[in-house]
Amino acid sequence: MAILVTGGAGFIGSHTCIELLNEGYEIIVVDNFSNSKPESLNRVCEITGKYIMIYHLDLLDSESLEKVFLVNQIEAVIHFAGLKAVGESIKDSLKYYKNNITTTIIICELMQKYNVKKLVFSSSATVYGLPDTVPITEGSPVQAINPYGRTKLMIEEILQDLYISDNEWSITILRYFNPIGAHESGLIGEDPSGIPNNLMPYITKVAVGQLKELQIFGKSYSTVDGTGVRDYIHVVDLAIGHVFALDKTLKTSGVKIYNLGTGKGYSVLEVVSAFEAATGVKIPFKITQPRTGDAAICYANTSKAEKELNWIAKKSIQDMCEDSWRWQSHNPNGYTKNEELENPRLIRSEVFLMPKN
Ligand code: UD1
Repeated sequence: MAILVTGGAGFIGSHTCIELLNEGYEIIVVDNFSNSKPESLNRVCEITGKYIMIYHLDLLDSESLEKVFLVNQIEAVIHFAGLKAVGESIKDSLKYYKNNITTTIIICELMQKYNVKKLVFSSSATVYGLPDTVPITEGSPVQAINPYGRTKLMIEEILQDLYISDNEWSITILRYFNPIGAHESGLIGEDPSGIPNNLMPYITKVAVGQLKELQIFGKSYSTVDGTGVRDYIHVVDLAIGHVFALDKTLKTSGVKIYNLGTGKGYSVLEVVSAFEAATGVKIPFKITQPRTGDAAICYANTSKAEKELNWIAKKSIQDMCEDSWRWQSHNPNGYTKNEELENPRLIRSEVFLMPKN
């Protein structure tokens, strides 16, 4: 029996593959590599010494995806795949609705057909919109403020309805706060295409000399120093959270929602200082206008995940900075060696390119 991991080559997906393999799970990755590189999976194999079956296909291609269900014994699905750039989602909302929502429906239909009713879904703290109070609990009001966030919220609602229609399902929705950091090996990490939108990848690109200076979006928020506060969580802690969530999903039924964060908030200036202290690299910055749609403060109450999943984030902001920097400094251009799918280093992986009929 295997765990199907959609979007397994991405930032959170690849780190989760490592933790699943370390726990002895057999995994099958489905990815279209639209925003990730197969090389990340080469490296997952290198780190773990384990085997992954990889299908290079688009989840919108339901016929090919069905073959994956037909020829494998799948026990559960962890669904990471999806588009995630807020700005792009505003410019091209249909692309986001089609990709994120349609693919989730296709997967759930196939899961239902093949009686695989165990699902862990990647949601986001974005569903809390601009929170009125912190820390944010799973019961705090939800409100999407852009199409990307709306896709996450709509999918959460679709999954709730799915359970109502068939209560054999076991669905766990994980609302991530701000994942940063990288695997401590420095072999895998975040590899955004183009200029990064998010804070830590921007900082590391400045540190490595590819961008001139960080722009800090606003310094007049009601926070410790006027800059925005977020709950940064080490991606390895987040990945481990998926293993705990999967274990519980396999044993129960129902729909459960958990915040995955640390419960601590750091301002942008505090992150910059932590990065400089952890790495010894100075980050030049200038203060600019606030970014539209940014909350002042956002951090989680994580007690539900602690109590019910027995999971807690363990790594510090220093670990996050050190590990982000190790990845970026060892791989200044990310996964440049685009070794793709024919490379013999994939010897421990098996790659199937699904034939197009
Ligand atoms: C962003 C998305 C959110 C998404 C999350 C995924 C927006 C408005 N929000 O969250 O929907 O779920 O990424 O990881 O895009 N900052 C700077 N300069 C920068 C980049 C960021 O000052 O160049 C500040 C931001 O104003 C914010 C903090 O750093 O206060 C974190 O920003 P970011 O890493 O983009 O995460 P979020 O805005 O929390």
